[in-house]
Amino acid sequence: MEKTIEQIHREALEEIESARDAEDVKSISIKYLGRKGAVTQFLRNVSNLPAQIRPEAGKKANETKKDLDALFKKTLMHLESSSRETDDRIDVSLPGRVTPRGSLHPITQINQKICDIFIRLGFDVAEGPEVETDYYNFEALNIPQNHPARDMQDTFYISNAIVLRTHTSPTQPRIMEKQRPPVRIVAPGKVYRCDSDLTHTPMFHQVEGLLVDRNISFGDLKGILTTFVHQMFDPETGLRFRPSYFPFTEPSAEVDIRCVICKGSGCRVCSNTGWLEVLGSGMVHPAVFENVGYDTTRYSGFAFGMGVERIAMLKYGIDDIRKYFENDLRFLRQF
Ligand code: PHE
Repeated sequence: MEKTIEQIHREALEEIESARDAEDVKSISIKYLGRKGAVTQFLRNVSNLPAQIRPEAGKKANETKKDLDALFKKTLMHLESSSRETDDRIDVSLPGRVTPRGSLHPITQINQKICDIFIRLGFDVAEGPEVETDYYNFEALNIPQNHPARDMQDTFYISNAIVLRTHTSPTQPRIMEKQRPPVRIVAPGKVYRCDSDLTHTPMFHQVEGLLVDRNISFGDLKGILTTFVHQMFDPETGLRFRPSYFPFTEPSAEVDIRCVICKGSGCRVCSNTGWLEVLGSGMVHPAVFENVGYDTTRYSGFAFGMGVERIAMLKYGIDDIRKYFENDLRFLRQF
């Protein structure tokens, strides 16, 4: 009889070993421990056994019952938790998570492009402060006390002697005070003017250029700026040097390019002139050289300044400068 309960036990263990899911375990449990289960039946028959083996067989059967009951419960728990794991498994058919990537602001991109062109032409990059003294912003640049550019309408004054720089030109005297010729620099940066409409914002960006050496002529100015325009826009772009006036250059010229929209036939963007103004330039005024202690009989040079937003507007055909500062992602994502 003892053998029989051991046999039942062994068979139960084998069956549970091959159980694939909770359903299997439940039916095996019923088969052995249920009301008509093998172990239950065995226990019921213990009383019919010969007296000398009865206690031992009863004990064995009860142990088997306890052991199987514990094993079934454990197996069931294990199967149920591992089936939950199966449900949570990684779904390899799902698309991957996209890591959002930023990009450079269009003004930053154009600013870098402008500087890159001049770097390849042998220029270094310099910078100056945005909060500037009246001296460097005006005085050193031959802008006299009563010049209209000093009008409160254009200039943000911090105090009588301190302003927010209205252009990047103050970097010219700052560099020249520190460095003897040859000087070949571009100076990008923010500038401020009390002005706001479709084509003006109170803060905008300029890139200043300055080249000083022996025997620098207006022909050098034309050559460098023509190369710049052809690299910035299109190698076929037509351009002209139009006489102009700046207190710190003489002679002065503004550079116009053929309208990028109508190619010169006349449109709204170029006010029917066929030309677009892209930058101011000129030969450095002797008064500026004198202010920084350069010998005007030995050295000559040219300077230029351009608005980065303006170049970006022309390059991308954008008619409202404020779009660059609204930070609307639908706009920015196009660049
Ligand atoms: N500083 C001038 C401006 O803001 C531009 C300029 C720079 C003109 C250098 C001539 C030489 O308009």
